[in-house]
Amino acid sequence: MAILVTGGAGYVGSHTIVELLARNEKIIVIDNLERGHQKAVLGGYLSVGDLRNDEFLENIFKKNSIEAVIHFAAYSEVEESALKLYKYYENNIFSTLKLIEKMIKYDVRKIVFSSTAAIYGNPTITPIDENSPETPINPYGETKLAVEKILKWYNIAHDMSYISLRYFNACGAHSNGKIGECHKPETHLIPLILKSILKKENKVEIFGNDYNTRDGTCIRDYVHVTDLAFAHILSLEKIRKENVASIYNLGSGCGFSVNEIIETVRKITKTNIKGEVKPRRAGDPDVLVAKCKKIEKELKWKPKYDLQKMILSAWKWHKNHPNGFED
Ligand code: UFG
Repeated sequence: MAILVTGGAGYVGSHTIVELLARNEKIIVIDNLERGHQKAVLGGYLSVGDLRNDEFLENIFKKNSIEAVIHFAAYSEVEESALKLYKYYENNIFSTLKLIEKMIKYDVRKIVFSSTAAIYGNPTITPIDENSPETPINPYGETKLAVEKILKWYNIAHDMSYISLRYFNACGAHSNGKIGECHKPETHLIPLILKSILKKENKVEIFGNDYNTRDGTCIRDYVHVTDLAFAHILSLEKIRKENVASIYNLGSGCGFSVNEIIETVRKITKTNIKGEVKPRRAGDPDVLVAKCKKIEKELKWKPKYDLQKMILSAWKWHKNHPNGFED
């Protein structure tokens, strides 16, 4: 039987595929390639199509014997989500409903779902555990929370077994040098700094230095994409053994400010980067740091990459692929 990976041409999806292949899993990948990259899919069978296309989805389930689904396909830009509501609600929620209904039709009742720390909004207590209030402050977080609720009810009504993984700030690149972070346009802090160095501009905008943090800049929990990918493997193992309805935080448990990230990149690349302070970006919480005790205990997951290793791996990827997958 095969594992169906939706959005497998995206950042976390493509890294998870490498881990699945290393374990000789049979995989079917689907991606509409709107934001994903064909070259990022290093194995398995890629079908290009959209979850909202019923005929396409029906064919995937009819032609393949699918055991479980790992569902990455979604839009994931916080700022964009606040402007393009229909786009986000339709792609992130309606597509997932179509997928789940198809799973029920073909009696596939195991799903690992990509969720996000954006579900917590602006938390009052840090680090954040899975019982913290779910109060998103942007539509992106709302769409992911809505899917978590949908999964809860499908679990009750249809025995849909699920694990929802709430990612904090994914970063870094695969050690094989073939895949890494490539968003167009790029909005994330670490790739933006590294790209600026490659363009010899050596600068980065700092969105606000008046947050309630140790140096005034936002604190985030950065976690390596290979560590995230491995959590999907452990989730799959768990879901194969038992009917679960579980939610886990996925972060490193350590928070770094924007200034600290810039400083670490400076040291690793031996480049003097100028930080230009700009107004706050809408929807940015002061601090987002995960408490990951639950996944450590229940799935025996522990991140292997520290901040230096994460940034070094990202730096290698960007140096060798300044144009992303077009190189
Ligand atoms: N930042 C800057 N300058 C930049 C880019 C980012 O100062 O040029 C700051 C942001 O304001 C934020 C931090 O760097 O404080 C990290 O920003 P990123 O854009 O790299 O990542 P986000 O924290 O905004 O987003 C990530 C994921 C989202 C997820 C969110 C949860 O990419 O999918 O974490 O909060 F929803």
